[in-house]
Amino acid sequence: MDRTLAEALRATLSAARENVREWLDEGLESWDAVPRPSPAVAEAGGTAALPVRDPDSFPADSLPSLGSDPGTAPARSAARLEDIRSALGDCQECRLAAGRTQIVFGDGAPDADLMLIGEGPGEQEDRRGIPFVGRAGELLTQMIERGLEIPRSCVYICNIVKCRPPDNRAPLADEVAACRSVLDAQIDAVQPKVILALGKPATSLLLDRNVAISRVRGTWQEYRGIPVMPTYHPAFLLRQYTEENRRQVWQDLKQALTRARERGGRFPELS
Ligand code: URA
Repeated sequence: MDRTLAEALRATLSAARENVREWLDEGLESWDAVPRPSPAVAEAGGTAALPVRDPDSFPADSLPSLGSDPGTAPARSAARLEDIRSALGDCQECRLAAGRTQIVFGDGAPDADLMLIGEGPGEQEDRRGIPFVGRAGELLTQMIERGLEIPRSCVYICNIVKCRPPDNRAPLADEVAACRSVLDAQIDAVQPKVILALGKPATSLLLDRNVAISRVRGTWQEYRGIPVMPTYHPAFLLRQYTEENRRQVWQDLKQALTRARERGGRFPELS
């Protein structure tokens, strides 16, 4: 075989192998698991069909900036979150509105020093209106409470999209974009010392690029001046419950808590 052709084939194979490794790392179990628009989405014209929320229509930047008085900060954060939630109303900014039971806004302490950001509500979350209460949520709660030994109620947990994607598919780019100002406003309201990004979609959004989670997990990143620790999504961990994956997530969680404490974050002990 021609040497140049052989080299080109080798390079192509090596790139393909690398891609497959990344997909497996990120939880791909079959080709059907690659997120595709549902028939309804395709009918609606795919991802380009919906308008993206005008950032000026959302109160994120119009809210007064937080003071540093610890006595009033929790109340202010709570009031801000309430404002954001009520500005969201019965949001119809993207197609996910049509399939949701309710908006799953966020859960936990309004002024938490550690904020966890996932992907989007699943069936249980959609039913109960609280993020991370299904199987992945149970694992996450265990990791927080048994692992970090802090109550779940002292962190703040939310998702990059607030409405359940159909068939638990990954949220599409325009759905994530439509919800982004809400997430930014939540981050501004909570003002966490550290953000833990759970999985590829949340990490890619915060880092503003398409990341391979296996490459960036465990490395410090930053979003709007806040340290971000990317880690695997608990749903991935449930699927690939290996000792190595558990060890890595555990390490990432511990790093996040330590950094939050170093930055002045306070966490009550689990009673
Ligand atoms: N997975 C997520 O990313 N978020 C949830 O709220 C539940 C499962």
